Amino acid sequence: MVEPDKKIREELNRLRAEINRHNQLYYDQDNPEISDADYDRLFDRLLEIEREFPQLIAPDSPSQRVGAAVSGRFEPAVHRVPMLSLQKVTSEEEFAEFDRRVRELLETEDDVEYVTEPKLDGLAVELVYINGNFMKGSTRGDGTTGENITANLKTIETIPLRLSKPTAARYPLLEVRGEVFMHRSTLDTLNCTLQEQGVPPLANPRNAAAGSLRQLDSKVTEERKLIFHAYGISATDLIGLGSQNDVIKLLTREKFEINESICPAKGVAQVATVFGRLDENRESLDYDIDGMVIKVNRFDQQEALGQISRAPRWAVAWKFAAEQVETVIEDVIFSVGRTGAVTPVAKLKPVRVAGAIVSNATLHNQDELERLDIHLGDHVLIQRAGDVIPDVVEVILDKRQPNALRPRFPKNCPSCDSSLVRPENEAAHRCLNVACPAQLEGCLFHFASKGGFDIEGLGDKLARQLIGEKLVTDPGDIFSLTNEQLLPLELMAEKRVANLLGAIERSKKIELPKLIYALGILGVGEAAARLLADEFGTFGSLQSADIERLEQLQGIGPVIARNIVAFFDNSGNSKMISKMREAGVVFPKHQATQQGQLSGKSFVITGTLSRPRNYFKNLIEAAGGKVSSSISAHTNYLLCGENPGSKRDKAHKLGVEIITERQLQDFL
Ligand code: IVH
Repeated sequence: MVEPDKKIREELNRLRAEINRHNQLYYDQDNPEISDADYDRLFDRLLEIEREFPQLIAPDSPSQRVGAAVSGRFEPAVHRVPMLSLQKVTSEEEFAEFDRRVRELLETEDDVEYVTEPKLDGLAVELVYINGNFMKGSTRGDGTTGENITANLKTIETIPLRLSKPTAARYPLLEVRGEVFMHRSTLDTLNCTLQEQGVPPLANPRNAAAGSLRQLDSKVTEERKLIFHAYGISATDLIGLGSQNDVIKLLTREKFEINESICPAKGVAQVATVFGRLDENRESLDYDIDGMVIKVNRFDQQEALGQISRAPRWAVAWKFAAEQVETVIEDVIFSVGRTGAVTPVAKLKPVRVAGAIVSNATLHNQDELERLDIHLGDHVLIQRAGDVIPDVVEVILDKRQPNALRPRFPKNCPSCDSSLVRPENEAAHRCLNVACPAQLEGCLFHFASKGGFDIEGLGDKLARQLIGEKLVTDPGDIFSLTNEQLLPLELMAEKRVANLLGAIERSKKIELPKLIYALGILGVGEAAARLLADEFGTFGSLQSADIERLEQLQGIGPVIARNIVAFFDNSGNSKMISKMREAGVVFPKHQATQQGQLSGKSFVITGTLSRPRNYFKNLIEAAGGKVSSSISAHTNYLLCGENPGSKRDKAHKLGVEIITERQLQDFL
């Protein structure tokens, strides 16, 4: 036997420590630091050394276990049968090699019957049914022990709580396995809400699904509209089931949602064709997939193949190559939003990624900036993961200039210089100065936007000047601006000033929902504002509403209720409201008319909905809305179902609000 030298031993120790650390980050903290590809590289190198020097395989080597230990927040749940992971391939040649091994072990020359399934990019969970009743649900954890998240899983509509009587009798203990994930459109809507609440957006649907599933409050999980797709079972006795195909049929009969792209394929060539098709179509799906899982169909063959330490020999994941593009970070700026959250933004040398030219990438917050270890001038790989704003995946360290500097996260607000704070349990740094010009600018812009007072001509540039010249200290000052004050401003000729003053005057007659929206209360977007107007009817009764009543409104909840009460308790805000009254803003009464709720609003419908499109068209039109077939800047809402295609992207680009069926129902 060849003896390893000191260098190999050191490398092995380093690899094991690294892999253990990444396992912990991935499984326990749900916060992976490196990409799957990089993790695989480390793991492959570990296996390579252990293959060459088998005497070095220790029982506690990461190669001998499935993952790291579980976190302590939920009760542990032991899986009766371990939840394995999958071997990976990244090319047709590698898949052909997998297939060759399968045929060799099965001692057959024939094409193998496979079932191909999209590799859903969510979280694997197990559901335990005892006598047909859903009793316990858990995450995968380290493959042996996961977390008991039964209460949260029960809120997912696509998880049946009871199985049919014949199935319950046949399989008194049945474990169903599958993936929980979030639709891209759901994440878009969620991120809009989070942003309105001043909470930084979630990076991608996978993180969003993971976070939503591990909520200690199941109500939050319920609101997140997660989806479960089943793809496997285990039971003490699999009577009557001879293949993966039979499993899929059984799960379908039992009303589990099964992915629509699952299909059989025989031999390498057919599998490769299906893979190509899936890769081509993946952008049109409303959920992320990161490859295709290929399973040997017949159970007798699966059994004959068995498993290696952490993965079955009868299945493999063929991963897609994510489109990553290299560019350079020219600068990092820190932008202050309307709510005071400070976001680092990478200014990039413009490049095309997944069909769009991008020149900005969000770096989210200080933790992310440090995790990536960004230096100015760094060459980086960027990737668009469903979002319009791309993420920085990693820095190409080899190309770093020797004297490259780290951007420094500011201690003080880049706009008003007051000290930034990072509230407990938050990733964002915030400027707490209510008079901060950058926040005020954002507020003013929001106040005058289409959904609010709709003052044409009051854009971000003018907002900046008005604040800089101290003509406006809060949005209430807009209504008493004069010709004399506006004329000296940059680019404000007489005509423009007259138009602006006309628009301000007209805006004083505003509808109550728009008035409420314009105030910019955290969490109160257009839908919530309409709801509040319907419920309270006048501005005065909303102003004096108590927290209990607000909390009980469907679609408001305790956090927003608190924000509303705090908003009206603030003396600065009361002053602003007085200014508005004195300047002649009409605080109107509002009639919650059943019929005209959507009047003046235009909709476009896309994707597959739970009922025919005409049903929704009639619903919208009956409430006074208009439905058209193509999206433009005048469209108010895109009603979006599954597999929405290009309309969703276009809506994104034009800033058209994307809503779900459920939200439409909430409007009505
Ligand atoms: S089967 C023994 N099927 O991939 C087979 N897994 O690395 C184990 N996944 O953690 C899993 N889609 O979260 C299987 N159609 C699919 C899947 C799938 C996604 C995930 C699952 C698991 C990981 C395996």
